Amino acid sequence: MNRRRFLQQGATGMTCGVLGRRAAAMAMSLLFAPRGLAEDTGATTRPRLDADPFTLGVASGLAGGARVVLWTRLAPSPREPWGGMAPEPVALHWQLADDEGFTRIVREGQALARPEHAHSVHVALDALATDRFYYYRFLVGDAVSPVGRTRTPPAPDADVARLRVALASCQHYEQGAYAAHADLARRDVDLVLFAGDYIYEGSNPRFVVRPHEAGLPRDLEAYRQRHVTYRLDPNLQAVHAAHPWLLVWDDHEVENDYAGLAGSRGEVVDEASFLALRTAAYKAYFEHLPVAPDLLTIGAPGGLRGQLPWGQLADLWTLDGRQFRSVQACNPPGRAGGRALVNCGELNDERRTVFGAEQERWIAEELAASRRGWRVVAQGTQLAPAGIEAPMLGRSIYSDGWDGYPRARERLLQAFAGAPGGDVVCLGGDVHRHVAARLRLDPADTRSPVIASEFCCSSISSRGLPEAAAALMRRSNPDLLHARGDERGYALLEFTPRELRCDFMATAFPAVEGATLHRQARYVVERGLAGPQRDA
Ligand SMILES: [Fe+2]
Repeated sequence: MNRRRFLQQGATGMTCGVLGRRAAAMAMSLLFAPRGLAEDTGATTRPRLDADPFTLGVASGLAGGARVVLWTRLAPSPREPWGGMAPEPVALHWQLADDEGFTRIVREGQALARPEHAHSVHVALDALATDRFYYYRFLVGDAVSPVGRTRTPPAPDADVARLRVALASCQHYEQGAYAAHADLARRDVDLVLFAGDYIYEGSNPRFVVRPHEAGLPRDLEAYRQRHVTYRLDPNLQAVHAAHPWLLVWDDHEVENDYAGLAGSRGEVVDEASFLALRTAAYKAYFEHLPVAPDLLTIGAPGGLRGQLPWGQLADLWTLDGRQFRSVQACNPPGRAGGRALVNCGELNDERRTVFGAEQERWIAEELAASRRGWRVVAQGTQLAPAGIEAPMLGRSIYSDGWDGYPRARERLLQAFAGAPGGDVVCLGGDVHRHVAARLRLDPADTRSPVIASEFCCSSISSRGLPEAAAALMRRSNPDLLHARGDERGYALLEFTPRELRCDFMATAFPAVEGATLHRQARYVVERGLAGPQRDA
């Protein structure tokens, strides 16, 4: 099958004899092969456009070093297949400027929007001045895109006074009006770290504030449509235009609780079928987000991972906790899915992993080699224990969280402890609650030393635990200094050479358009002293 036909079929027709890493590698390399220049392709620079092609806005991402990725997608009729574009490549013009009025353009060029990538564009720029804000836009025919603002990181050896990160995750379209995004778009931050569940493939009819498409996505076009629905939200577009993003993905970008090549839906039971589904979902994700093509390590172990130094102040790493994950313990063979577990001997199998052996080795080496002030590890979910002590039954854990991978968690905590100078901070999302936690070398032993700090953000819109359940979780886990699932929002983290301050921003009314956010709590981590402390 040739490349174009493969892509147009959305990978749904793929069958492979030998599956696993090699097949995944082939699928990814087909999807993310380097793009050619406009001149090589006979692309048009003046496509027939009956409407504004920039309906999905613009976005930028940070891709390590001083590189910035600029994104847009041409879609004059975004609800139609191919976004209403003719099936031909289009060359468009991009500009990067010092000022919002584009009177001082510092870089410009041509980029190709290919039909096989849904006319999405990813412009990766390097060798820009460090530690600077820039404005960018795209032009095609007579159309001009909205203006986005982005920034470059400081030089790796620079003394830096601060880094301000907005940590967000879990934006179920059906369950909220994105009041948190409206608030975040107005904030002055350096970057948005999105910790996963960018789209949701499923629906809970009990909690629908505004419906998305019916049914689960089963092919590339359906995943594209889901991304389009999300990206037509003006508040989400505003956050993308206002700040560069750093991306971690979790399960709902593909399917609830998937693990590696194992799906959790009843009808997709074999690896080949699930690989086709996963490949379609990854491709739609790539087409709609400002991810540098080389961040998706083509075929090699690694996945959606990256490293970003912020001067001498911090190292940030993003990790992929889905693509290489072992199936949840005590499940039927080959079937993914989380569940409450009380007794399960398989939990203690050393071979079980969240990141895969290659990523585990990589993050341990990165942590050991880093000499920057803060070492920030961003991944999908809560690392600190979250199990519930039940009378008579014993401890009940949820098998899709880190509690379901205790040996892998021990290895990660040992890597944290092996980082010279300490000051390791773990960030995550997924749990739909604001969390501040102490991380001990042995999380089951309260006498074990605290070696790192953890913060998880509540969801932008997805429903969370009621307070009674969160209170039971806190009582069962004394290292959970804060765990509230009753409000939606995001976390604001400010790193300085002296301390890290985390403000949990929240609203109890996520379904209300225009709801305002308040500060639910503030925690501080002092340099040299692992563990958050309540500040206000
Ligand atoms: Fe979620």
